Amino acid sequence: MSNESPKTFHVKNYGCQMNVYDGERMAEMFAARGMEASDKEDADLVILNTCHIREKAAEKVYSEIGRLRRDDGSSPMIAVAGCVAQAEGGEISRRAREVDIVVGPQAYHKLPDMVDAVAKGESSVDLDLPGLDKFAALPKRRKTGPTAFLTVQEGCDKFCTYCVVPYTRGAEISRPFAELVDEAKALVDAGAKEITLLGQNVNAWGDGDQDLGTLIRALDKIDGLHRIRYTTSHPNDMTDGLIAAHAEVEKLMPYLHLPVQAGNDRILKAMNRSHSRDSYLRIIEKVRAARPDIALSGDFIVGFPGETDAEFEDTLSIVRETVYSYAYSFKYSPRPGTPAATMDGQVAPEVADERLQRLQALISEQQAAFNQGTLGKRTSVLLEKPGRLEGQLIGKSPWLQSVHILAPGLSIGDIVEVDIVEAGPLSLKGEMLMKVAA
Ligand code: SAH
Ligand code: SF4
Ligand code: F3S
Repeated sequence: MSNESPKTFHVKNYGCQMNVYDGERMAEMFAARGMEASDKEDADLVILNTCHIREKAAEKVYSEIGRLRRDDGSSPMIAVAGCVAQAEGGEISRRAREVDIVVGPQAYHKLPDMVDAVAKGESSVDLDLPGLDKFAALPKRRKTGPTAFLTVQEGCDKFCTYCVVPYTRGAEISRPFAELVDEAKALVDAGAKEITLLGQNVNAWGDGDQDLGTLIRALDKIDGLHRIRYTTSHPNDMTDGLIAAHAEVEKLMPYLHLPVQAGNDRILKAMNRSHSRDSYLRIIEKVRAARPDIALSGDFIVGFPGETDAEFEDTLSIVRETVYSYAYSFKYSPRPGTPAATMDGQVAPEVADERLQRLQALISEQQAAFNQGTLGKRTSVLLEKPGRLEGQLIGKSPWLQSVHILAPGLSIGDIVEVDIVEAGPLSLKGEMLMKVAA
């Protein structure tokens, strides 16, 4: 516990892209107060922006708190923010006494006041879920890299039986259209070439009769913005208007992350997913009809309570039927307070491990094949970071593949046209043709 006003800060993010967005906004907020960003090792204030989605993710927080203790036995001022904060609340400071502040994902705009309270010797906990208050209270966007995140929607009302998000992030709520267009413009003025719209159910975004497709069409008109993406979508909110945007809006990248979780209808029902295997496959068909070259990705859970070998085979077969360019897969992790945690038929860890390995092998095969399929194509790449070789830069293709390019005179943020000359299982090599935008 430190009783002085901190002058430097460090934000460490865990979990999803929405946490990355929140972490950036926290950093902007402290910078606006005249504090300086610094390394974790010597920051006066360390904010752990946590994730509660699986057990391993949540446990990381406590080991990190232990590691923050310095050689002389002191600790920086520590704030636990994000979804573990929301889920465990005051319990965190009982378990880890070094923690000064506990703040939920919808209340972090109050962090500066909470820091002041701690500097006065008080401890501070705020787990309000006030919906959209934080956005109005945050400072304007000032600086960003070529790719930026923009949270358009918060929370979730779907209550999948395995998932903590509806409890940690609160009810589904959309930010207003005009505010989002303004923030997108500010991000482009601050250097963004690509904006990824974020939400736990991003495609449930709506304002009056406007849906995500309408918002994307409005962002399409912003000069200087070259690429639009969105994540994560729920199959039930995949409207025809949004699917049509994939056919019509050139800036909308041909990539869709649409998690199905499992391929068996009994399991999907037990998960409370509210879509079936067939309804998912029909959506995929429509999306492919609108945008034939679209890259698909998804999330999968293996070893959900009661999942039999045969039911797991249905997950493998829906992967074979859909054909992904990439996918995330997880072993089911029982989460406190969720219905699935107390269901009968919890699957043995060895069985779940074996299923995960088989699923991941299939996904890797599909990823390699997808990459191979882009060999010889001419396409654009947005350069995002330096590569390991001298003069090498790494960027993303429209299909979100990593592309390595070796060419003189290029900078991060440039968009270049390349020929794909090599395709590995995880990344591509591009040969530079010309610069499209700088
Ligand atoms: N809102 C998004 C993402 C939610 S979290 C969606 O609905 O798709 C990201 C992924 O974590 C989920 O898609 C799911 O695959 C996984 N996940 C969530 N809870 C989990 C749990 N208890 N055990 C294992 N994986 C889980
Ligand atoms: Fe979790 Fe389901 Fe909501 Fe996604 S849709 S955040 S998996 S409850
Ligand atoms: Fe994790 Fe919360 Fe995101 S639980 S995945 S940080 S919404």
